[in-house]
Amino acid sequence: MLTMIYACDTNGAIGKDGDLPWKQSSDLQHFKRITIRKTVVMGRKTWDSLPPGGLPNRRNIVMSRTPRQDVEVMSFEQIIELSQNEELIIIGGGEIYSLFLPHCKEIHRTIIHTEVEGADTFAPDISELGFYLIGENHQSPGPKDQHSMTFQHLIC
Ligand SMILES: NC(=O)c1ccc[n+]([C@@H]2O[C@H](COP(=O)([O-])OP(=O)(O)OC[C@H]3O[C@@H](n4cnc5c(N)ncnc54)[C@H](OP(=O)(O)O)[C@@H]3O)[C@@H](O)[C@H]2O)c1
Repeated sequence: MLTMIYACDTNGAIGKDGDLPWKQSSDLQHFKRITIRKTVVMGRKTWDSLPPGGLPNRRNIVMSRTPRQDVEVMSFEQIIELSQNEELIIIGGGEIYSLFLPHCKEIHRTIIHTEVEGADTFAPDISELGFYLIGENHQSPGPKDQHSMTFQHLIC
């Protein structure tokens, strides 16, 4: 099964200059709770934005058209095949969300209540794909958050 997790602003922006466009500790904790001890799949640019070694206590799989030795790399077909037997969590970025969205049955989406200026990466539009909310939780900013946020859980 393929699950997707992302955080976006109110216009769907997810990235700017190769990084997240906000400091949002509560969302990082939420991300960790959903992904810990699972297998995560990401594009090479998202991999490059992480600290060396990637996300700890998770199996990190990267998509790249260039072979590399520092991390497990898989093709689209290999990832789809692996997802028949275990839950894989698609963690971005924009290219990889668009690639796998038609195969995803579940989405964890955090709306960050801001409008990022100059964003260069966006989440794909999910509005026509039959996803519906099964959970929603609004949270005011904590001491290490720049903005309020809404955690959403959708399935289709
Ligand atoms: N807000 C969020 O939740 C969130 C989550 C994750 C990332 N982000 C942000 O999103 C941005 C990065 O997203 P992005 O769209 O620029 O890049 P990306 O999706 O992270 O990575 C794109 C790369 O993936 C590889 N790739 C793409 N399609 C492939 C395919 N079919 N087969 C094999 N490899 C493939 C290519 O790597 P090669 O060039 O090596 O071939 C491509 O350059 C950053 O700003 C990051 O901080 C935000």
